[in-house]
Amino acid sequence: MSPFRLTRTLPEDATDAALRSDVRTGLTGTPKWLPPKWFYDARGSELFERITTLPEYYPTRAEREILVGRAGEIAAATGARTLVELGSGSSEKTRFLLDALTGLRVYVPVDVSESALTGAGRALAAERPGLSVHALIADFTAALELPDTPGPRLLAFLGGTIGNLLPGERAAFLASVRALLAPGDALLLGTDLVKDEEVLVRAYDDAAGVTAAFDKNVLAVVNRELDADFVPDAFDHVALWDAGKEWIEMRLRSRTAQTVKVKALDLAVEFAAGEELRTEVSAKFRKEGVRGELAAAGLDLAHWWTDREGRFALSLSVVR
Ligand SMILES: C[S@@+](CC[C@H](N)C(=O)[O-])C[C@H]1O[C@@H](n2cnc3c(N)ncnc32)[C@H](O)[C@@H]1O
Repeated sequence: MSPFRLTRTLPEDATDAALRSDVRTGLTGTPKWLPPKWFYDARGSELFERITTLPEYYPTRAEREILVGRAGEIAAATGARTLVELGSGSSEKTRFLLDALTGLRVYVPVDVSESALTGAGRALAAERPGLSVHALIADFTAALELPDTPGPRLLAFLGGTIGNLLPGERAAFLASVRALLAPGDALLLGTDLVKDEEVLVRAYDDAAGVTAAFDKNVLAVVNRELDADFVPDAFDHVALWDAGKEWIEMRLRSRTAQTVKVKALDLAVEFAAGEELRTEVSAKFRKEGVRGELAAAGLDLAHWWTDREGRFALSLSVVR
């Protein structure tokens, strides 16, 4: 059994303050919105894992196919001794990188979900003698402080999670990632690609209703943490493709006119019948767009790999 450490970089009350601030801003805004990071309590993380196994949800399978085929090249190009993974979740696909990176000493999974980090981190530490697992409970959109570990570092951001950031947030995020990297370090970025609208919408509105349950879970989080009285079934899950912005939006549409009380914020939120609350955007990318966004942050796209059907891409940028 290898060492497993769990570090919380934010005090628990900071998470509470961030949730309060986001809920107040989002529910008093026009249109109403909530940031997607609040989906991921233990139940939200579990529901996301179920989503990754749905027939409609191709991104996980497509990204896994690329990792299976390219992990050796990624290992050869980076020679990483530390793997940092942002939004690591269950770390399931990461196993292909861990197998290929033969000189790897430390794995640093970073996530807001403590349950996901503990489950995945402990399992990996138990399975892989010689690998230190140093899990960080942290928000990757805030200033990240990484533990002092041996270089070169490979920073992986998989699952297309970068698409959950708005364009301005993405630019700031990529600049902060670049600032964490030294010469010889690398960024491995997973991006879902623009494709047929029907395929995209089905991936975010599956027949079994798992994505709908995941979407509504954010209401359960606000109920529990901020003493609110959302009735999740008084909202319908909606997934829409915005062709101009090239992103999917997940929304919750109020079935009736209703007032929701958020007692911890002393807030009464009015919903008109049919009014929508945006819970997630998931941007889809094209190669030149990814190259441009990386370049704007001072990163050169060195490799671009897609799955056989061209649905998803992994790009690798090595810092010179
Ligand atoms: C779409 S899931 C992807 C999980 C995994 N990387 C995969 O590819 O299957 C997004 C993950 O990022 C985490 N996450 C979302 N927003 C975050 C944030 N702001 N800071 C840290 N982790 C975050 C979630 O808890 C979740 O585990």
